[in-house]
Amino acid sequence: MTTMTTTSVLEARGVTMRFGGLTAVRSVDFTVNTGEIVGLIGPNGAGKTTFFNCLTGLYIPTEGTVSYKGTVLPPKPHLVTKAGVARTFQNIRLFANMTVLENVLVGRHTRTKEGLWSALLRGPGFRKAERASEERAMELLGFIGLAHKRDHLARNLPYGEQRKLEIARALASEPGLLLLDEPTAGMNPQETRATEELVFAIRDKGIAVLVIEHDMRFIFNLCDRVAVLVQGEKLIEGTSDVVQADERVIAAYLGEPFEGDPGEAEAAEVTAAEATADATADTPSTTGTPGTTKGDAQ
Ligand SMILES: Nc1ncnc2c1ncn2[C@@H]1O[C@H](COP(=O)(O)OP(=O)(O)OP(=O)(O)O)[C@@H](O)[C@H]1O
Ligand SMILES: [Mg+2]
Repeated sequence: MTTMTTTSVLEARGVTMRFGGLTAVRSVDFTVNTGEIVGLIGPNGAGKTTFFNCLTGLYIPTEGTVSYKGTVLPPKPHLVTKAGVARTFQNIRLFANMTVLENVLVGRHTRTKEGLWSALLRGPGFRKAERASEERAMELLGFIGLAHKRDHLARNLPYGEQRKLEIARALASEPGLLLLDEPTAGMNPQETRATEELVFAIRDKGIAVLVIEHDMRFIFNLCDRVAVLVQGEKLIEGTSDVVQADERVIAAYLGEPFEGDPGEAEAAEVTAAEATADATADTPSTTGTPGTTKGDAQ
């Protein structure tokens, strides 16, 4: 028998985030270990996205520290990405008027060493790096199943594919940890199931995953551990079985124990989500520079 040593990838200690009088995240300790898929759930407004923003340098926590592989992360999004932590956003942030391939190439910029002059002069070093980048981007598009759409504009993709493209772009920075903020929001049941497989495949590549979702079936199927955030505080953390059975979780969040098969309420939720997806597919996604202003840091 081989013994697996557990090493932590991400360590958050005493993370608190206050906005004026509102404490959105309160003294949260949180660990993600190598090889794990960890879920973060909680009601709307519980502080899940705010916590992600604290982990990824979009917000500087009022208190506490965040470390990646033993080193405290600098509170700057591009440095966090460079260190090895990538994310997707609750509101899709693609470059709508760029192609699928170009969007993935943008995600590679923290990993390309070629400097500005080399790029301007388009010397042999630059061209070689560019070819290697494109090859890697195409490999990632193959991995998520969008290689055939490489030249399509991002805004013309159906909603579910836009979410997948965001994942490919995040993977392009070659992360050791991937944070997903509601990756299946607006997806139909088949797309959700496919996303589940995709997350397992990402984990199998040696990338730890931390995922926020409201879809309990998705979360409990997928995650090795689940943490529940309620009003900014971590209520409980444990295996799916333990969390599903916890009376405080049932009372605070789930309403009733999760039984594995979708009930009527879940079926209604899926129908509603599909309606939203159809409506959203008609509207172009959030575009432009992935800004870091407070208002749109969702
Ligand atoms: N930039 C900000 N300025 C002020 N308040 C904020 C800011 N960002 C978030 N909040 C507040 O912090 C609380 C937590 O919000 P957050 O978006 O983190 O919740 P969430 O758990 O992600 O919810 P949802 O499931 O709806 O996405 C909310 O009360 C929200 O209004
Ligand atoms: Mg959120």
